[in-house]
Amino acid sequence: MQTRVLPPTQESLALAADILKSGSLVAFPTETVYGLGADALNEHAVRAIFAAKGRPADNPLIVHVSRPEAAQALCRIDSRAQSLMARFCPGPLTLLLPKKPCVPAAVNAGLPSVAVRIPSHPVARRLLEVCGVPVAAPSANASGKPSPTTAAHVLHDLDGKVPLILDGGECQVGLESTVVDLTSPIATVLRPGGVTPDMLLEVLPEVRVADSVLRPLRDDERALSPGMRYRHYAPGGQMTLVRGSQPRVERACLRLYRKAQERGESACILAFEEHLPAYAQARAMSIGSLAQPQTVAHRLFAVLRQMDDEGVAVLCCEVLPPEGLGLAIMNRLSRAAAFRVLDADKEEQA
Ligand code: TXA
Ligand code: MG
Repeated sequence: MQTRVLPPTQESLALAADILKSGSLVAFPTETVYGLGADALNEHAVRAIFAAKGRPADNPLIVHVSRPEAAQALCRIDSRAQSLMARFCPGPLTLLLPKKPCVPAAVNAGLPSVAVRIPSHPVARRLLEVCGVPVAAPSANASGKPSPTTAAHVLHDLDGKVPLILDGGECQVGLESTVVDLTSPIATVLRPGGVTPDMLLEVLPEVRVADSVLRPLRDDERALSPGMRYRHYAPGGQMTLVRGSQPRVERACLRLYRKAQERGESACILAFEEHLPAYAQARAMSIGSLAQPQTVAHRLFAVLRQMDDEGVAVLCCEVLPPEGLGLAIMNRLSRAAAFRVLDADKEEQA
């Protein structure tokens, strides 16, 4: 199959809508990351998503709709969902709600709930309007790779596997949507994203954040969201997160870097913009500004992909407090590093 990459003109959007309605796949930009879409009510089309990505069939998909009324056809919307939608949709928020029978089991892995999201990206919105069907779409990466934030990332992973990629430029947020489970009495954040727990608390009286957001699942633990079981956002190299007081973090990163070099392995330090001068003697790359975490969210996956493309074997990465948007950033970094963390303060005391 030949993969076409087209700018989002009226013609290409009409073509994309035809492709979706005929049961095939289209990759499209959202404000978070690129999605790989199929008609959510067409079981055969939905299965094609799993095949193209190499995604395990028990990992359910998010269904994208253009407005709350369209969500109503798919799930039962309670007053909490109504308030959240009124405040944050369209935007980077996904709600897990009790599903209605029209949702094929292939979409939500046969669970009682379905994930729905109203994206704010103008291309995603126009596509949903033009095609007139709900669109099931996971991130448009090959399973296990960082989510794509440009059309080039999608092409890299899915060339020859999808007929069309709509190129809407770089995704603004850069990290996937916040996933909130509303199927239990207390709303629970299963995946942190651009809508932070504090923002949710502006609307809901109580919000919980799943423990497994910042630590691995224990063997005996049930995954609230099947996606949490899989190693996501995995760079090819071995990544270590380095925490502690800043001078010690810098010394520890440089130490790890030099050790890799002595072994003849390529290495890179991923640091906040503000700290780059400390790493002048090493190869270091900015992951964005510590003072502006949204720049880190925006860049992070592109940086991880670049490290992969260059075959960097050892990565040391600075961290930030898991607060606000920092929670989403640390969730993705922790998984990319397979939860490998070095405490620079303890190391120097030892
Ligand atoms: O920003 C986003 O959410 C992007 C764009 C394309 O919308 N989509 C995205 O989809 O990140 P995906 O499939 O890569 O991640 C969806 C996550 C997975 O971890 C999945 O397990 C979880 O949501 N999920 C989906 N439906 C669920 C359900 N019914 N119950 C529990 N978890 C669910
Ligand atoms: Mg994904």
